[in-house]
Amino acid sequence: MEVIIVSTDAEVGHLAAEKIATLVARTPTAVIGLATGSSPEGIYRDLRARVEAGEISFAEARGFALDEYVGIPLNHRESYASVINREVVEPLGFNPSRVRVPDGRAEDLEFVAAKYDADIGAAGGVDIQILGIGTNGHIGFNEPTSSFASRTRIKTLAPRTRQDNQRFFNSLDEVPVHCITQGLGTILEARELLLVAQGEKKADAIAAAVEGPLTSFVPGSALQLHPHATVILDKAAASRLQLTDYYRHTYANKLNRIA
Ligand code: F6R
Repeated sequence: MEVIIVSTDAEVGHLAAEKIATLVARTPTAVIGLATGSSPEGIYRDLRARVEAGEISFAEARGFALDEYVGIPLNHRESYASVINREVVEPLGFNPSRVRVPDGRAEDLEFVAAKYDADIGAAGGVDIQILGIGTNGHIGFNEPTSSFASRTRIKTLAPRTRQDNQRFFNSLDEVPVHCITQGLGTILEARELLLVAQGEKKADAIAAAVEGPLTSFVPGSALQLHPHATVILDKAAASRLQLTDYYRHTYANKLNRIA
């Protein structure tokens, strides 16, 4: 795992965006795994500037969202279908028919979940998966004790996750209880993982995921199993790591800063 520590939230977004822009410039049909929430906002902002400057195009790229709430209407402002459309598809110029979000409103959610995994496979798999991390260590909505072998499926959100996400809704009662999320096994099949975290509130989850034991109690620790995982952090999110000097030394001596 490569751990990169930068000074600010904006630098986290810039560096992560650079990795994605490099991939898309090289492979315009790349398959991007899309996270929602606050963590990737800086990435999408930075990529938008590059699209507007004519440096890259997502017109031929494909996208698969990590997760979706169950039980809120498609056109709800906070459904991940709406968020992905507003924050990714429109600003970055993806072809909407090439971007998928699990359907959290379907009658047969288990069928939707299994088909989602199959569709990722049929698209050739995810080239780079963008990830945030929950304060309880979740990635996607794989809450603590999720199996490392799990596939896309229905999950019950942890009370802490619902509290954390209350800021997007008018009240805690409005935050959905269930979701469909790519499983940890699904996420680990992506060719590259790119996790970003900012702020002190993520420091414990990052320390546990990066330097703690491999445990389903901290789903983010699954990154330790992946051969090409990059974690980009601001100073606050990195503040409880033990090996920060080593990570800085490694990055300062890296020959190719993008790959
Ligand atoms: C979002 C997702 C979640 C978030 C995590 C952090 O698609 O799968 O794992 O990345 O809950 O959320 P933020 O970034 O809002 O702090």
